[in-house]
Amino acid sequence: MSEKVLMPNENREISKTPGHWVLAQLGKKVLRPGGKELTQKMLKGLNITANDNVVEFAPGMGYTARLCLLQSPKTYTAIEQNEQAAAIVRAYLNGESQTCRVGNAQNTGLDNAVATVVYGEAMLTMQSDTRKNEIIAEAGRILAAGGRYAIHELCITPDGINDDNKRLIQKEVTEAIQHPAKPITPSEWKKLMQDNGFEIEFEAIAPMHLLEPKRMIGDEGFWGFFKIAKNILTKPKARKRVLGMRKVFRKHNKNLSAITLVAKKKS
Ligand SMILES: C[S@@+](CC[C@H](N)C(=O)[O-])C[C@H]1O[C@@H](n2cnc3c(N)ncnc32)[C@H](O)[C@@H]1O
Repeated sequence: MSEKVLMPNENREISKTPGHWVLAQLGKKVLRPGGKELTQKMLKGLNITANDNVVEFAPGMGYTARLCLLQSPKTYTAIEQNEQAAAIVRAYLNGESQTCRVGNAQNTGLDNAVATVVYGEAMLTMQSDTRKNEIIAEAGRILAAGGRYAIHELCITPDGINDDNKRLIQKEVTEAIQHPAKPITPSEWKKLMQDNGFEIEFEAIAPMHLLEPKRMIGDEGFWGFFKIAKNILTKPKARKRVLGMRKVFRKHNKNLSAITLVAKKKS
């Protein structure tokens, strides 16, 4: 891909740019909290085959799109809100059966029961309670009975955490990433899925190490990490944002995790 591709939010003041786009501008491709490893567990749970019609919500830089396409699904449709991100994802697609539309996951415009698999990563956490519910309901609407739906999101642990602590974490994460963020507990994520007609089939948790060097090398490869580190060192405003985010993630390390859930739409 050409170096000249416009990155999402590239022209925005960096101190106000949502954290995921700051990281993308620095060269980070993996923007989900559990990294490549949790994504791979999610994909294993989804077991995508050549018979599947897959819909991905919010593909971002297209990292999981590429892994999914390796399984040669019958169709692949992505719904991405950000135009620049959608253009980046389109560069990975081939033929009429693979498309990426600019749109909203809560209102995809797709027909009922067109998909056998739906997944979305690091995109529900940033929504309000109402919007989370709308997006999960939309996944249910576009899935055929028995279809699989997977999420990979930030969660707050343990389930019994008191409300004040939970609200403090949500507030500090929101401030650090400069975008509303409302991570919820594993039980709350599961309940949201169950209330929308899904049966949980698989779950896994991973530490929230998005900005820890070991995870970054694992996710981005050595050269990818090197490029990001060089950008961080040479761009002081972006560095301030990255360090600010990492500080909050570290402060709440014991209560912040990544979760993936793979669920089946009940018949
Ligand atoms: C943190 S990034 C995650 C990107 C990618 N899924 C990943 O894990 O690397 C959040 C993505 O969600 C997209 N997004 C947020 N709300 C959305 C919505 N309602 N419908 C579609 N895309 C949305 C953003 O444009 C962005 O690409």
